[in-house]
Amino acid sequence: MEFFATVAARRAIKHYADKPVTEADFERIMQAVLLSPTSYNIQHWRFVRVTDSQLRTELQAAAWGQTQITEAAELVIVCADTQAWSDNPQRYWANAPADVQAMMLPMLASFYQGKGLLQRDEAMRSSGMAAQTFMLAAKALGYDTCPMIGFDNERVAEMVNLPAGHVISMFITLGSADKPANPRAGQIPLTEVLIENRF
Ligand SMILES: Cc1cc2nc3c(=O)[nH]c(=O)nc-3n(C[C@H](O)[C@H](O)[C@H](O)COP(=O)(O)O)c2cc1C
Repeated sequence: MEFFATVAARRAIKHYADKPVTEADFERIMQAVLLSPTSYNIQHWRFVRVTDSQLRTELQAAAWGQTQITEAAELVIVCADTQAWSDNPQRYWANAPADVQAMMLPMLASFYQGKGLLQRDEAMRSSGMAAQTFMLAAKALGYDTCPMIGFDNERVAEMVNLPAGHVISMFITLGSADKPANPRAGQIPLTEVLIENRF
């Protein structure tokens, strides 16, 4: 699908048909995710693909029963590792020339070291962009998605054994719409969104 048509066609879909996502398409969507941008190329997004139907049911209970969690063919939990900047960071620049590596690696450490809020902000920024890549790639292949934050974060963290230093950004359901989204609820005008130079 053409890019702007894909952006316009992506909607938050709540009702899904009983139709699988092919393995090849799931892989293609995730390969697109890997090309999402991250500061210092730290690629700290982690996607939990929930294939265990019992876990899906439990996750649905932790998300106030939202039906798309069990109806959709796929559910991913977008997470991020806030400590990825310190986890063998040389691998993020493995193909760069030696002088670039020598410059970037100490910069990376001094940028993130001891800055918990920045580490968390960064995780949310990056996972948001990766989530959008996921949703647009899915739409381009003819699938539908719904991003979700309506769940009990602590319960979900326990259910998926979220490792220390990781955060949960959102759920995304993926599948084929059974019912289209309602008409768009209303977009605020560009004049409110776009500021020239200063607020
Ligand atoms: C971060 C985020 C969290 C959301 N959480 C939920 C949710 O828990 N349940 C739900 O039904 N929709 C959820 N939505 C979907 C929004 O309601 C939807 O994106 C918004 O109304 C705009 O509609 P559209 O995506 O179809 O353009 C969420 C969207 C975002 C971006």
